[in-house]
Amino acid sequence: MCGIVGYIGHREAYPIILKGLKRLEYRGYDSAGIALYDGQDIKLSKTKGKVDDLERRVENEISTNGSLGIGHTRWATHGVPNDVNSHPHYSNSGDLVIIHNGIIENYESLKKELTNRGYTFNSDTDTEVLINLIEDIKKSENVKLGKAVHIALNQVVGAYAIAVFDKNKPNEIVVARLGSPLAIGVGEDEFFIASDASPFIEYTNNAIYLEDEEMAIVRRGKDVKIRKIKDDSLVNPYVQELQLNLEQIEKGGYEHFMLKEIYEQPHAIKDTYRGRLSLENAIIKMAGVEDHMKKFLNADRIIIVACGTSWHAGLVAEYIFEDLARIPVEVEYASEFRYRNPVINENDVVIAISQSGETADTLAAIKLAKSKGAFVFGVCNVVGSSIARETHAGAYTHAGPEIGVASTKAFTTQITVLTLIALRLARAKGTISSSDFRMHMLELEMIPDKVEKALASDDHIKMIADTYKHATNCLYLGRGYNFPVALEGALKLKEISYIHAEGYPAAEMKHGPIALIDENMPIIVIATKKGHYEKVVSNIQEIKSRKGKIIGIVTEGDSTVKELADHVIEVPETLESLSPLLTTIPLQLLSYHIAVMLGKNVDQPRNLAKSVTVE
Ligand code: M6R
Repeated sequence: MCGIVGYIGHREAYPIILKGLKRLEYRGYDSAGIALYDGQDIKLSKTKGKVDDLERRVENEISTNGSLGIGHTRWATHGVPNDVNSHPHYSNSGDLVIIHNGIIENYESLKKELTNRGYTFNSDTDTEVLINLIEDIKKSENVKLGKAVHIALNQVVGAYAIAVFDKNKPNEIVVARLGSPLAIGVGEDEFFIASDASPFIEYTNNAIYLEDEEMAIVRRGKDVKIRKIKDDSLVNPYVQELQLNLEQIEKGGYEHFMLKEIYEQPHAIKDTYRGRLSLENAIIKMAGVEDHMKKFLNADRIIIVACGTSWHAGLVAEYIFEDLARIPVEVEYASEFRYRNPVINENDVVIAISQSGETADTLAAIKLAKSKGAFVFGVCNVVGSSIARETHAGAYTHAGPEIGVASTKAFTTQITVLTLIALRLARAKGTISSSDFRMHMLELEMIPDKVEKALASDDHIKMIADTYKHATNCLYLGRGYNFPVALEGALKLKEISYIHAEGYPAAEMKHGPIALIDENMPIIVIATKKGHYEKVVSNIQEIKSRKGKIIGIVTEGDSTVKELADHVIEVPETLESLSPLLTTIPLQLLSYHIAVMLGKNVDQPRNLAKSVTVE
């Protein structure tokens, strides 16, 4: 939530920050702002709305000279999205300016104290409290900005990634992180600051990722000094070389990131199993699993914690783990798990799934599980993310950057990783025969081509989207492995088209949702050949008798559902356990086209942000 960017060096800061904000807009987009130091003073401009609105405002409002600046794109927590609450925020003197991603939980008591000391506040934000706290400490204790930030951060409770500068010391930016990501790009006599590396990847491949509870003073033409916030001890900066390239973070000719990411799935899935699955040697190897095999094999159960789409991938994994490896699995919303005093111990393995690796609830669930002695394994996409670092071991999905707010390739690559783990454990436990094991590997290797085939129905899906784009409610039904896909399909439609949609296990329909069915209700039924096919066909009959409009997701060549349904979308045949990797594709495309036809902002749906770093 919220993207932050900063620059200090020898180039003009404005174009770098503006472009950086556009790349980070997926993190929040209800308002945006920028503060530049022009050699004499701070020039600040901010507005409710998107970065494009900011660009227009800046042109009319301020000069854009200067080689030091910070910028922010916001997802509101404290205070409604408006011009005043937008970042950056000045301190009362106007000397200091700050951008902040996160929440200062004790801001009200700090605000009271500062008010008593004569400070005034323009906005409703916690951030304006923080910058005035820093100013108050700087003045009352007569210390430099870095020291004042250090003392202030020891007084605040909450989460933050911040960047601050002082117009009287325009050769440094002070940054800090706790719970929200912050990367420092290291160039030739220049430094970049950002929530992720995308704003600076065309200038440098070298980056320092601040750890939680670290702050840094980034000095123009000099160096980066990192300290621990708690005890002020110095930390050696670790500069890593990034594998990211510009192409990965651009739209590459697609109208939206979401569409590009849907189409990237054949490659992303292949990249995820490449080097881990060897058909030739009939083995699956994943370092994170091999190193902790005993933990997995001795586990009483696996608890999966995640949110949103990642939680749906966890539900698919529950079927796979229980089916293949015969290990009991519980799947929990991280937000519920962390607050319900769960029974966990050293014999539990917790798998945390997260695309961003920054989701606050998932991170908190991991910390809780660790505190109770459980072994925690992460499945993340973003390399070096907080969750990847907080877990004992893990396996990355190699999906590449996912920028569209609606998760697509993250979901299918998460399922791929989880399938590999389940197969590996099943083999080690002897719960799968060698022929079954081989067949699963063979089928998994064929999935990228089959996803490609599923994508070929795009035009047909577009026509179906056109027919149902004005629906106000939609039902998604699936059974077994495809029940979580139904949930995921409904989530996709809701979040980008704002059409109300519900996912249900097909058999549950008659326990309530059937009452909703009439001739206006589109019902998307996943009815692939394997997996309770006949039962699902009966459910389709029940819908038909109530005049519901049926869109069947069927196996290639199916004729039974074709006769009953209003429309069918075919996917290639595969094993039941791998079918979610195919059935999810038409659902992603259907939501995408409906949202585009309704004129919605597909990549940046209202009220959402890509990574939810607040609880
Ligand atoms: O980064 P994470 O996988 O931890 O994110 C979890 C959810 O916030 C995320 O999946 C969200 O539900 C997506 N917008 C769904 O498309």
